Amino acid sequence: MSNTSHFRKSWLVFLLLSGVVSLCLVLFAPTLHKRLVGIKDCRTLPSALSSATKISRHPPTHCSCNGGLLKDFFKNDNGTVRRRQEEYRKHKTRTSSSLDLLLVAPANSPLQYPIQGFTVVPLQRTLIPGLGVYAPDRDKYKVSLEASRGLLSVEEPGTDGLVEGDGGNQLNITALSASGLNALLGRVHYTSMVYRLRMGDLVHFLFEKHNVTFPVVTQQPSVPIIFDLGEDINSQVTITTKTFLRYFELNTLINSIRQYYKTMKIIIADDSFDPIKVNGSDVEQYFMPPGQGWFAGRTLAVSQVTTKYFLWVDDDFYFTKQTQIEKLVEVMESMPELDMVGAVVGRNSFSFRMKYEEGHEDEGGCLLKFRGPYKETVPGFPQCSLSNVVVNFFLARTDSVQKVLFDPRLKRQGHTQFFVDAVGKLLIASCNHITIDHQRQRPGSGKYRSFRNHKEDDMHRFLYFFKSHFGCTNLF
Ligand SMILES: *[C@@H]1O[C@H](CO)[C@@H](O)[C@H](O)[C@H]1NC(C)=O
Ligand SMILES: *[C@@H]1O[C@H](CO)[C@@H](O)[C@H](O)[C@H]1NC(C)=O
Ligand SMILES: *[C@@H]1O[C@H](CO)[C@@H](O)[C@H](O)[C@H]1NC(C)=O
Ligand SMILES: *[C@@H]1O[C@H](CO)[C@@H](O)[C@H](O)[C@H]1NC(C)=O
Repeated sequence: MSNTSHFRKSWLVFLLLSGVVSLCLVLFAPTLHKRLVGIKDCRTLPSALSSATKISRHPPTHCSCNGGLLKDFFKNDNGTVRRRQEEYRKHKTRTSSSLDLLLVAPANSPLQYPIQGFTVVPLQRTLIPGLGVYAPDRDKYKVSLEASRGLLSVEEPGTDGLVEGDGGNQLNITALSASGLNALLGRVHYTSMVYRLRMGDLVHFLFEKHNVTFPVVTQQPSVPIIFDLGEDINSQVTITTKTFLRYFELNTLINSIRQYYKTMKIIIADDSFDPIKVNGSDVEQYFMPPGQGWFAGRTLAVSQVTTKYFLWVDDDFYFTKQTQIEKLVEVMESMPELDMVGAVVGRNSFSFRMKYEEGHEDEGGCLLKFRGPYKETVPGFPQCSLSNVVVNFFLARTDSVQKVLFDPRLKRQGHTQFFVDAVGKLLIASCNHITIDHQRQRPGSGKYRSFRNHKEDDMHRFLYFFKSHFGCTNLF
């Protein structure tokens, strides 16, 4: 053997070995220190390289807020704790499906199948796109497909091979050539057997030692709800507010609105003890049972809006030249994914971020609030940053807020609770180029203040613990 060929051989051996070693490193990174002790540990390699899809559930993870735990307040109340657990389990059943499982596709598989975007309508037969086997020639090909929540069938099965189990949930296809097999695979249909709005099924696709899994999404399409923006700002926006005992402020607000928006509809929810009818046209005043509260009033007002957007103002705000609703509409229209834009009250833009982790099933989630918006701005509007919490002066999509609403159990305080309910549901931005003023506080508003300042900590704590399923939060 010449020196050069010996040299080449050892290079090959070296390359092969280092390939195996680096594969080991990749496969066993978590237990690296143990594995590094001896390469012979890599004898486990073949089983690790088994050609089946790896399917796993995310393990429950604990989270923490470095603070007091809400459960400490409920430790003498086993009923609440137990019911919270039960309701959370039902919530998970409602909101999770096999589509949440982690699927890892095996290496070196000759199987082709759809990995994303294959969606079927409940109870409707649909072609599975992209199925195929690409393997070196054989005398005979046999594949199986197994579904669990749907039926599999082949259109015109007779011609290219043998199909067993047609119309059931396991299908075996045998063919003498790859082209015959792929012709049959190109005609496999899936029919979901249950009517659900959204659901997942995992289909196993087997060929010799290969076993892969792909998801089928069953989705009932929903009917869109779209609004006619009409010709001007009055057909685009409704102004909404809630009042309680403050008619002087309310009239001041309405007069300031009418300086700039003469005919825009104003909806007022009023839970005063001795209600007085507000004067003026294009004003709808809804009288509520007295003292129903802050959030109940907001929800009532928003429920009556028919325009695409509504503008929320407090009854002691005051419109100025800088209160340009058109500019807020412009931001919303420029980024259709947005659900809400907040602006500035006086000098206060009051913008916060929230970090939420789902946490462990029994302990609950963790929600932390931080001052300031996200770095990301709305494209074309450097004055508007994405955010989780904004001020009481915002423009919002009516249909989006109608899906979250304001929990009427919060009567006196509770600005943040709405934004807690909106985490992960509404996309919010905070803009600092539009402002509204606050009316100066009048002497004699003491009766109002005494209502507003009434503490509701117990209710907040209960809602965070039970309704929001938090283990802890820094919101107190
Ligand atoms: C709640 O359950 C614990 C443990 O099961 C028990 O020790 C405690 O007495 C119960 N408390 C109440 C108020 O029932
Ligand atoms: C498909 O093949 C498998 C294994 O070869 C067998 O166990 C199963 O009964 C077959 N299914 C049908 C519907 O023929
Ligand atoms: C194929 O893989 C899935 C998921 O890993 C498993 O549940 C199923 O039993 C496997 N089927 C066969 C025939 O090995
Ligand atoms: C509306 O006008 C009537 C009659 O002028 C007046 O008595 C009433 O107080 C006004 N309402 C408000 C809320 O100012």
